[in-house]
Amino acid sequence: MSDLTFNKYAGAVLATAFVIAGLVQLSSGVFSQEKVAKPGFKVEVAEDTGGGAAAADVPPDWGTVLKTADPAAGAVVFEKCKSCHNADNGGANGTGPNLWGVEGRAPASHPGFAYSDAMKAFGAKQPIWDYEHIYEFIKGPQAYINGTKMTFVGLKQPQDRINVIAYLHGQGSNLPIPAPNPAVTAAATAPAATAASGGAPAPGAAPAGKPVATGTTATPATGAGGPAGNGPGAPQQQASKPGSAN
Ligand code: HEC
Repeated sequence: MSDLTFNKYAGAVLATAFVIAGLVQLSSGVFSQEKVAKPGFKVEVAEDTGGGAAAADVPPDWGTVLKTADPAAGAVVFEKCKSCHNADNGGANGTGPNLWGVEGRAPASHPGFAYSDAMKAFGAKQPIWDYEHIYEFIKGPQAYINGTKMTFVGLKQPQDRINVIAYLHGQGSNLPIPAPNPAVTAAATAPAATAASGGAPAPGAAPAGKPVATGTTATPATGAGGPAGNGPGAPQQQASKPGSAN
């Protein structure tokens, strides 16, 4: 009898131990869920940067995008620049230099404007303002040329920058538009296309990301981490060991 009683207590202790072990596993499951949740956020970041970073990291093919760009829309975007810039032929310098013919001219070269040392140093390295350098500069002027006097937050949208570059091209630019380069276009549009189609709805992210996508909303997180990891694991131990103890 006392053996049986001992067995009962031992069983109870064992069962408690396994419950605790199960809880530990569950809590580790919770932590691993948070790891799962982060890739979920990454999906959102990928969405945001899909249009931005993909196109920024892979500069567009100017021979392609300038043919379809909208200079009129670029003129509207240029309203944001007008507080500092005039882009008319012979227009005055303002807070910023006159931008007539800026595409194709040397950085920091417009007469009568007191450029920053940073812009002069940039001009010493970069002989002309081509599409690509303007594209990068106006995305985030101070990030691109540390110390520039152009205190403008930047144009995050690639298409805004492309359109304003198309507008400026009509303002006295001597820079030719290159022939389309399909290889660059493919490289530039492929990441953007997958990000655009895969980011917003589930389909693109579905194969790898479906559990992740649901996992971001906290409750299904147990669905993401649970069934695979601790779900089968903990119950198995609890079922077999206490059973044998009793
Ligand atoms: C708050 C005022 C301000 C705004 C707004 C602004 N800029 Fe500027 N911009 C400047 C200043 C100042 C400089 C000279 C920078 C320096 O010397 O470091 C400059 C320089 C430039 C240059 C180089 C010119 C050269 O001669 O080397 C370009 C190109 C340019 N800006 C384009 C733009 C465009 C496009 C926009 C609108 C999307 C814009 N800027 C908005 C103030 C501004």
